[in-house]
Amino acid sequence: MEEALIRVKDLCKIYNPGENEVRALDHVNLEINRGEFVAIIGQSGSGKSTFMNMLGCLDVPTSGEYFLNGTDVSTMEDNELSEVRNREIGFIFQGFNLISNLTAIENVELPLVYRGVDRKTRHRLAVESLTMVGLEKRMDHRPNEMSGGQQQRVAIAGQSQLSRL
Ligand SMILES: Nc1ncnc2c1ncn2[C@@H]1O[C@H](COP(=O)(O)OP(=O)(O)OP(=O)(O)O)[C@@H](O)[C@H]1O
Ligand SMILES: [Mg+2]
Repeated sequence: MEEALIRVKDLCKIYNPGENEVRALDHVNLEINRGEFVAIIGQSGSGKSTFMNMLGCLDVPTSGEYFLNGTDVSTMEDNELSEVRNREIGFIFQGFNLISNLTAIENVELPLVYRGVDRKTRHRLAVESLTMVGLEKRMDHRPNEMSGGQQQRVAIAGQSQLSRL
């Protein structure tokens, strides 16, 4: 059987270790396979965002293991985690994810700059993916000139092209 895409073992996150400590994650175990759709639900304060921050490599656990696509990311340093975020993870938020002084196409091209893709290829990929999400007429608009859903689609375009590289 294929290795799970996400495999989390005994994951713990303790904020403020010591007297005022908060056990936000207390030995969480989870496997997610390629192609699975998973929703994380739970009451306010139950640790969903904390967990998503771990899965997204935005923060590191206090203890436990996290294998992402076969690689142990639980002990990585900041710079290694940024590399993993750029290569392995797609984040789609409805707001606040786009850079406000860049146009839609510039926002979509930005992660490609960090991947070292040349200017011409960047432009082609960005046009294609913005067209795929129905935003060919909004490519030169800035985020504040677009609806929430349109901004979200810019984010989707930015992510979807990465998987086509
Ligand atoms: N930086 C922090 N320092 C200390 N405690 C924190 C910190 N961040 C979160 N917590 C605590 O950890 C617990 C989990 O918080 P988290 O944000 O993961 O919850 P959540 O499930 O996303 O809640 P919500 O549905 O309200 O967004 C909460 O009790 C919260 O008070
Ligand atoms: Mg939350």
